[in-house]
Amino acid sequence: MSLDHGCLLGIETSCDETAAAVLRLDGHLLSSEVVSQHHIHNQFGGVVPELASRQHIQHIERVVQVVMKEAQVSWKDLRAVAVTRGPGLAGSLTVGVNFGKGLAYAAGIPWIAVHHLEGHIASAWLEQPEFPIPAVALVVSGGHTHLYYLPQRAQYRLIGRTLDDAAGEAFDKGAKMLGLGYPGGPALDCLAQKGDCHAVRFPRPYLQRGGLNFSFSGIKTALLYYLRKAQMSGQSIALADVAASYQEAIVEVLVEKAFRAVRHYRVKGLAVVGGVAANSRLRALLTARASQAGVQLTIPRPRFCTDNAAMVALAGLEAYRAGVYATWEMDAMADLPAAHREECLVPVR
Ligand code: KG4
Ligand code: ZN
Repeated sequence: MSLDHGCLLGIETSCDETAAAVLRLDGHLLSSEVVSQHHIHNQFGGVVPELASRQHIQHIERVVQVVMKEAQVSWKDLRAVAVTRGPGLAGSLTVGVNFGKGLAYAAGIPWIAVHHLEGHIASAWLEQPEFPIPAVALVVSGGHTHLYYLPQRAQYRLIGRTLDDAAGEAFDKGAKMLGLGYPGGPALDCLAQKGDCHAVRFPRPYLQRGGLNFSFSGIKTALLYYLRKAQMSGQSIALADVAASYQEAIVEVLVEKAFRAVRHYRVKGLAVVGGVAANSRLRALLTARASQAGVQLTIPRPRFCTDNAAMVALAGLEAYRAGVYATWEMDAMADLPAAHREECLVPVR
């Protein structure tokens, strides 16, 4: 198929998902595939880095071929390859970066290094290209809980962050304590739908203080103590009620702080992105609150909340348009400067 616009290939392998996507240069998404390794890491209760990188090596070539075929494009239609450079697991990132660089080199096109968080933020526009700027973005994933003020597309000012655990970590660790396996977030979400969220009153840390910052380690400890106490007193534990109550505590804090930021920065748009944004209770509360407050809310559909390459391709497109390409010497960087170290995260490439 010959395309006037050409297209961009996106690759994401920062953790335990091997993903690729093809995006047309006008921003239209042609294909996106994710191969998850959850069934492999599940038996170990968390991601095993060595296994993750081996799995990426096994799947990356086929996933790229699948998205190229689905998009009905050929190598000559590609104008650039956008790859997550970091942060993430070193071995996992290296597979995607080297594969992407190799492809780009062979095709005689540039490669673009994408910061993983920048990818998540870009997902706000995947399905809502008209999402207004300036806006506030809440990034809630397994490793991050960050609030950004976005004065413009591809400009990010960090305005709040977790001081300890990320929201996704709180979900995963809580789920582990409840015996729900890995990754715990989706399992806890599922179980909570059958429970009463008012059954147990877990603390809402930093709800009234801490400005726009978060802290989730206290909620996790409260759950541990609750379970211990119940076991010691021989009290029966209604798992669904506990899950729903625990989830409510996390979600309430996220919603409250996100809208506090929207009010403070007087913006019309709120984007909520990252794996935890797939949570059904969070989505429901955000939607209700946004309609009450007249705020334009964008939450990508669940498959674009968790790690995917469509978001990487879209973030890469911004860089492509600006002519910001990576050099052949650049490598994967597990600790690619995280947004929280800078007041302003200027895209790190
Ligand atoms: O963005 P993501 O796929 O990877 C990272 O960049 O970390 O986020 C993964 C996190 C995990 O902690 C996972 O448990 C959580 O997102 N997650 C959820 C749900 N789906 C994924 N947490 C709560 N409810 C969900 N439905
Ligand atoms: Zn992620």
